[in-house]
Amino acid sequence: MPTIRPNRYRTHTCGELREADVGKTVVLSGWVQTNRDMGGVIFVDLRDRFGVTQVVFDPDRSGKQAHDEAGALRGEWVVRVEGKVRARPEGTRNEKLPTGAVEVDASTIEILNKAKTPPFEIADEIDTNEELRLQFRYLDLRRDRMRKVLELRSSAAQAARTYFTSQNFVEVETPFMVKYTPGGARNFLVPSRTNKGKFYALAESPQLFKQLLMVSGMDRYFQIVRCFRDEDLRIDRQPEFTQVDVEMSFVEQDDIFATIEGLIAAIWKQCLGIEIKLPLERIPYEEAERRWGNDKPDRRFGLEHADLTAVVKAHDGGGLKLMKTTVDSGGIVKGMRVPKTCELPRAQIDKLEEFCKGMGAKGLAWAKIDASGGWGNAPLAKNIQPGMREAINQALGAQDGDTLFFQFGKAALVHTVMANLRLFLGKKFGMIPEFGSAGKWDFCWVVDPPLFDWNEDEKRWEAAHHAFTRPRDQDLHNIEANPGLVKCWRYDLVLNGFEIAGGSVRNHDPLVQRRIFEAMGIGEQEAQEKFGFLLEAFQYGAPPHGGIAVGWDRLIFLLTETESIRDVVAFPKNQKGIDMMTNAPTHVDDVQLRDLAVKVVMPEEKKDDKK
Ligand code: AMO
Repeated sequence: MPTIRPNRYRTHTCGELREADVGKTVVLSGWVQTNRDMGGVIFVDLRDRFGVTQVVFDPDRSGKQAHDEAGALRGEWVVRVEGKVRARPEGTRNEKLPTGAVEVDASTIEILNKAKTPPFEIADEIDTNEELRLQFRYLDLRRDRMRKVLELRSSAAQAARTYFTSQNFVEVETPFMVKYTPGGARNFLVPSRTNKGKFYALAESPQLFKQLLMVSGMDRYFQIVRCFRDEDLRIDRQPEFTQVDVEMSFVEQDDIFATIEGLIAAIWKQCLGIEIKLPLERIPYEEAERRWGNDKPDRRFGLEHADLTAVVKAHDGGGLKLMKTTVDSGGIVKGMRVPKTCELPRAQIDKLEEFCKGMGAKGLAWAKIDASGGWGNAPLAKNIQPGMREAINQALGAQDGDTLFFQFGKAALVHTVMANLRLFLGKKFGMIPEFGSAGKWDFCWVVDPPLFDWNEDEKRWEAAHHAFTRPRDQDLHNIEANPGLVKCWRYDLVLNGFEIAGGSVRNHDPLVQRRIFEAMGIGEQEAQEKFGFLLEAFQYGAPPHGGIAVGWDRLIFLLTETESIRDVVAFPKNQKGIDMMTNAPTHVDDVQLRDLAVKVVMPEEKKDDKK
């Protein structure tokens, strides 16, 4: 229960009064939730952050003026009432309300503020579009559901702070306005008035600074910190979002995992009263790609993939020319079995094919299994040799009535298309539990990913995450010989198909670092330009170190079982990055631009751009 200091506005909150308070004279202030005239007696439900209390204006006791004023109240007016707590008559108690055993028999009322009729009802279940809710966010936040989310977010942050402090971490703030470094997420830029023509970048994360703090000997750092990224927005992305950022010295991957697992357990315990079983499972990156098509698998439902590349190779294409060319040229073949309980008529399969094409696939190969294991009238059925058909059926566990789907081509595209197809079908057939509850909190670490990605356009290796990730010792010899085979100490924590944290053990060895830069085609000079201050710092005694950042909004979004990350941010941007309430971003006047030495050149309007 909140402790408030009694003052002119209130002696208690609207969520506080109980039977033990009967007989007390109290003052309450809050918003009018409802007022009902029941045969001359007026019942007002008064609400504040802490709850709702029923206030009664009986003309015999409250006097005519107070009674009349109460009768004229409208929803969301702000009022102060004074009265006596009394037990509600038998049969009129409201068991659902913590204050439901009592009511306040009012003697006076003071209207502190009137209110316009809100554009939507202040109630848990509302059928209002999100844009309107965002435009009137301060009203949206009056709703119980939204308030509870923010309270839970606050409680989780509290649990995090307590946890890290108890583990001897130090909370250090790092700059938001930083030097622009290429690579990583796209940055927001801030023009400098005092250094005309120059720009700060808004930090996409405190990455370099937290590593510098390790060089400073800070040893165990954490920060609940805002990060800024100019990315396309999705349900799990905001342009400014919060991380619980961590960096530790003299540690290995296991130490970082133990720390974050402790944090997760503390939050779930404090916020939901749920014990999370530790340690969390670890899945190699390669296995995650193979079985689910991506590095953030939602393992709460089936529709797993099977890699059929070896089968197709063993049958030399099995009569399917396209599959043969794919495997001969280094591509892969994947299949997925959809059980017969999921109805997939031909028209639906055609729609799924369009869905796959939308992601860049050439098409969607399929087969319908009949009682004898045949593939019916699917296009592939004509040419496939029985041996390969049987091998594929077996690899996928195909049964009479099942539908099989296939993708073949370059590995990255095949994985992506199959991963999205799996999710789409999982949703369509109601296989994915909507939320995490009912024991369905599926956490896993995805570990041992490759250090480098091949950039096909630029024909060079680039860092898959960031250039300072430490390769696994057993893979060091491959940095030059076969960069694609080098795995590293990078990890993601996944919850129910969302990446909720990511980090790595860093590379503190300058020699290995130089070899990594060389493999990526980054010369000494370029490395100095991009990361000079970090490389310089590393020459003054850098401890082995590593870290991780938890995507706080994502974690809270899953914890609170809300629909989008926007629901757990008090004042979020919409999908176009616009703050609907203040209309930011806006134009600024020419004088401001001149002061900043910035000129706005609008892109030429495209011919077909009607807006
Ligand atoms: P990374 O880029 O993986 O790592 O980010 C860490 C976590 O932050 C969350 N996240 C986001 N949440 C909301 N909106 C966004 N736009 C957004 N982008 C990322 C994700 C992600 O797992 N400095 C490294 C961490 C490290 O290596 O220690 C970093 O920022 O949940």
